[in-house]
Amino acid sequence: MRKIKNILVTGGAGFIGSNFIHYLFNDTEFDGRIINADKLTYAGNLENLTEINKKHEGKRYFFEKADICDYNAIELLFRKYDIDTVIHFAAESHVDRSIHGPRDFIETNINGTFCLLENARAFWGDRDDVLFHHISTDEVFGSLGETGFFYETTPYDPRSPYSASKASSDHLVRAYNHTYNLPVTLSNCSNNYGPYQFPEKLIPVMILNIKEKKPLPVYGDGRNIRDWLYVNDHNSAAWAIINKGKTGETYNIGGENEWENIKLVNSLCEKVARFLKKDTDYYKKLITFVKDRPGHDRRYAINCDRIKSELGWKQSVDFDAGLDRTIEWYLNNQRWIDNVRSGEYKKWMEKNYSKR
Ligand code: NAD
Ligand code: TYD
Repeated sequence: MRKIKNILVTGGAGFIGSNFIHYLFNDTEFDGRIINADKLTYAGNLENLTEINKKHEGKRYFFEKADICDYNAIELLFRKYDIDTVIHFAAESHVDRSIHGPRDFIETNINGTFCLLENARAFWGDRDDVLFHHISTDEVFGSLGETGFFYETTPYDPRSPYSASKASSDHLVRAYNHTYNLPVTLSNCSNNYGPYQFPEKLIPVMILNIKEKKPLPVYGDGRNIRDWLYVNDHNSAAWAIINKGKTGETYNIGGENEWENIKLVNSLCEKVARFLKKDTDYYKKLITFVKDRPGHDRRYAINCDRIKSELGWKQSVDFDAGLDRTIEWYLNNQRWIDNVRSGEYKKWMEKNYSKR
């Protein structure tokens, strides 16, 4: 196990980052300091961390509003907190948004990662007791046909502005390892679900639209396939890599849990109906096939044998239980939903999706 004193979590107010901070406090023995650097875009929400903030702010947990593209601001954080480990979640993360407006994706995902790497290199020099862990996606590998899997060795073939920007950042991270010996690890993970996911991604969109009896927009023929993983299982995998992973290496993380979108949406109708004690068929009739996403990747499926055999990681939440837990969370957290749907995000949705 590595000895970690001060971990910088970028994007710690987003979906996976905030769950990671909860995970560190609740499910690990970690006793160092956690510094959460987040710009608080539409997707960043400090309400995700209310409890942590109450208990630990100023002691073991510190929030810093910062843009990862701002070199000086990040330099200050490295110095102020003597950072020895970075876990880099901060990103623009939604494919549909990257199609409507790719600029922020290039800026944050590529330039922001570059800025963090430059700071790490300058601050750490040739230390080898430090680590930069980069969080990435399986979408960098492109799209699969009916068979086959993405391996760590699969050539990159990104097809959306989002996945292209993530692929660029992965390449930069590897280049800093090869060229400057910066100690890095990387992970490429499949689709996550769980509490605090912004209601723009498939599962929360569907849960909330079912609850609100709105149309359930299924893109194209609904037969695209994604491999779903509960967010805490992603975070336990990232933590295993940070502690035991081999420097310079990449690990795939996945759910081994492939679902056609339409089957998943039907299952969500059944599950939410059960929670609300309502008629499933009523909800299923809300399913509406809409115009496909341009360049929509057909199938993602991860082979994660490496992290299982080398680091002893495995998924711990099965899909049925994970979905129930997630549905319950969305049904019981209306205030969170109202808050994240107001403000900047609302304006953006009204402008870009008004004709859908
Ligand atoms: P998210 O959109 O919910 O959160 C992103 C966070 O980053 C937000 O808190 C936002 O405020 C912050 N941020 C954005 N731009 C910033 C900037 N310039 N400076 C500082 N902070 C900034 O995203 P997520 O779903 O939690 O994804 C986190 C990471 O995991 C991303 O790197 C994403 O590519 C990767 N990933 C996500 C999934 C998934 O299914 N969601 C799967 C695999 C990998
Ligand atoms: P999404 O959650 O946006 O994740 P990603 O595109 O990164 O995989 O979408 C998951 C799948 O669901 C993808 O095939 C697109 C599809 N989808 C819909 O059919 N309807 C929707 O409203 C959304 C948001 C996604």
